[in-house]
Amino acid sequence: MFRQPIVSRTFIGRREELSALQEARRDLASSHGGAVLIGGETGIGKSRLLAQFVNDLREGKSRRIVVTAECLERVQQPFGPIRTLVATLAEFVERDELPGNVRRAIAQLTRSSPELDHANATEALERADLLSALVELVKLVVARQAVVMTIEDLHWADSSTLDVLAYAIPRLARSRFLLVATFRSDELERNETLLAAVSQMLREPSVRRLALPAFSRSEIRDLIDDALGDRAALPASVRHDIEVRSEGNPFFAEELVKGALEAQSAGALASLPLSIRASILQRLATLSAEERRVLERAAVLGYRFDPALLALVTGSNVEALLPTLRRARDLNIVVEESDDARFRFRHALTRQTIYIRSARPRAASCGESGVLTRVNTLGAATRLVDRSLARPRRPRGHSTHTPHTGNAVSCDFSTRHADNASTSATKTLGQPRSHGEQRTQLSRRSDVEADRSPHRASLD
Ligand SMILES: Nc1ncnc2c1ncn2[C@@H]1O[C@H](COP(=O)(O)OP(=O)(O)O)[C@@H](O)[C@H]1O
Ligand SMILES: [Mg+2]
Repeated sequence: MFRQPIVSRTFIGRREELSALQEARRDLASSHGGAVLIGGETGIGKSRLLAQFVNDLREGKSRRIVVTAECLERVQQPFGPIRTLVATLAEFVERDELPGNVRRAIAQLTRSSPELDHANATEALERADLLSALVELVKLVVARQAVVMTIEDLHWADSSTLDVLAYAIPRLARSRFLLVATFRSDELERNETLLAAVSQMLREPSVRRLALPAFSRSEIRDLIDDALGDRAALPASVRHDIEVRSEGNPFFAEELVKGALEAQSAGALASLPLSIRASILQRLATLSAEERRVLERAAVLGYRFDPALLALVTGSNVEALLPTLRRARDLNIVVEESDDARFRFRHALTRQTIYIRSARPRAASCGESGVLTRVNTLGAATRLVDRSLARPRRPRGHSTHTPHTGNAVSCDFSTRHADNASTSATKTLGQPRSHGEQRTQLSRRSDVEADRSPHRASLD
């Protein structure tokens, strides 16, 4: 176990994003407020970017109020981050000089007893009055000093918080108030309240979205170097493997480094870190058991898979599978490939996690059934090839793609590449003479498939 956390101490890359944030901050001087919504998948670096921005703000010379708040998973209170904002701003105003509705709003959201004792504070403000009182409070403060508010993890915000933001942001566009919030882009599709609030905010000219892309290979290399620090070096092949497998996600890269170091010190082979699996499985949790079963079958087919083959394997048809695939796409579990109507897993690590999850119980309960599932899979694949071959041949030159030998079945058995599929099926299945021989051959093939390092798949 490593007592020191394996994280990069240096802030890497994100120059453009940081300068977009700094520009938004500079605009405050000319009373251009608004919001920047930082979106990106889990672990891509939203919090780190925000922390860097806040750090720079606090080190800067300008006098401005910085309010940092966060939304919490499961235990989110109504108006959670708004309470933090109100409590901070209340310290910058003279209560006696405030209009009654603003005092009541402060009392209501901070539950401070002196305010509650106030005769006017006994009744709660109606929602509309509360919202306008909040805007009034911010305007009173920003008349004297600019305010930058950050909110972490907006995808966990309660609906009252989202209501306040959607109401207040347009009304504060010409005030020295800037909101910078982070949210998981993959949560947007499954959280309708968030989706509605974010879309409403983004319609405002004063609001912009900053989408965080994956790190480049060289940035990931820098991150690995920095995370390793002066610890024992990892072999070049392991570092390269981490570089490829992390697919530009710094959280995955750090966790893989940690896993590799732990395995190295224990003299064992590195397995897929629990932290990575947990973050991926969390996304799967919102799917139904049937939808998960479909994705498990897809994971057996490979990093890329053909919906037609998946339909055969699951005993369904493509139309029936599409809603599941769309949901998985919206949750950023799979990606639809535009050019050939196939799908692939968002990360090779996503596929590996689902594959491990689906393989475990079978291996534990019955060693045979894993093999039999693959027999079914390949049986279905063979039927698909047969069906493809029964179709009229395309003109020569139409299908020039040569499949990799030993590659995942999904790659080879597209209905669009009947010629390739038949070649590859022969290569893959060979000409087994007996059932036993076929099973041996298939289980050997599935071992290759299981061992296939995910980065090979990502390079397909
Ligand atoms: N620009 C960066 N420079 C260095 N390390 C980073 C950078 N971005 C992210 N990381 C590291 O990657 C991990 C995940 O980043 P984090 O900001 O927590 O992701 P998110 O908030 O998007 O889930 C953290 O340990 C973080 O320190
Ligand atoms: Mg975060």
